[in-house]
Amino acid sequence: MLEHNNTIWGSKCGCGYKNYILQNKFHPWDKTDFTIHIICPNCKEQLIVDQKKAAEYYNNKIYGYYRHVTGHIIDLGCGGGFLSNYLLHNNQVTKISALDINKDVEENISYLNQKKIQFIHAGASELTQHFKTNSVDYLVHRDVFMFIEDTLKYFDDITNIVSKGVVHIGWYMSNNKRMKNQLLPTQIKEQLENRGWDVTLEYLSWYKCGYVIIANKKQN
Ligand SMILES: C[S@@+](CC[C@H](N)C(=O)[O-])C[C@H]1O[C@@H](n2cnc3c(N)ncnc32)[C@H](O)[C@@H]1O
Ligand SMILES: [Zn+2]
Repeated sequence: MLEHNNTIWGSKCGCGYKNYILQNKFHPWDKTDFTIHIICPNCKEQLIVDQKKAAEYYNNKIYGYYRHVTGHIIDLGCGGGFLSNYLLHNNQVTKISALDINKDVEENISYLNQKKIQFIHAGASELTQHFKTNSVDYLVHRDVFMFIEDTLKYFDDITNIVSKGVVHIGWYMSNNKRMKNQLLPTQIKEQLENRGWDVTLEYLSWYKCGYVIIANKKQN
């Protein structure tokens, strides 16, 4: 199911077992005293999951989808650097081009290592002004796709620029006024497949209205 309000609240027990619940009252990034007490079914220890632990668990769950990327990466709509910060610690990632339409975020990400990361003030529609054909290994983004207006241009441009793969997590809510396009995840998959990508689409039961697209370029 794509449209739902659940988010995950969990933590990995000392024994290694992943304990979690799905609920729709508190997001793991909320400032809240909400905690859950779980008896780990594996080791029978009591686990207390506070907001800090829940956020760490949630973040790692997101990051898990971006683990395989290597080389030169575009982080489109980098915002506060949530993805870039993770990618910086991956030794297989050699360069990050962090793009955002909002110039103010440059300051937000200035805490990140400057050698490997470069901020580019640009929107999704300007990709071809900054990157040549096949010059980037992977394109990643999170919670950005629904803000892209000209989606056909986006699909054409990333197919031209990106040589290996795309990973994006997004959300879809019908009739949501903030969304600049109404493409369903199945339509995103189809658009990429039409341009020669192998695409996996997964709906995320633990991410509000969330889905992940993992696309790899077919090698000729
Ligand atoms: C919800 S935030 C996500 C930030 C970051 N990706 C993350 O995972 O935390 C969306 C970001 O996309 C940027 N954005 C919105 N429309 C954009 C566009 N057309 N091109 C590039 N960035 C865009 C916004 O300025 C904002 O920083
Ligand atoms: Zn345990």
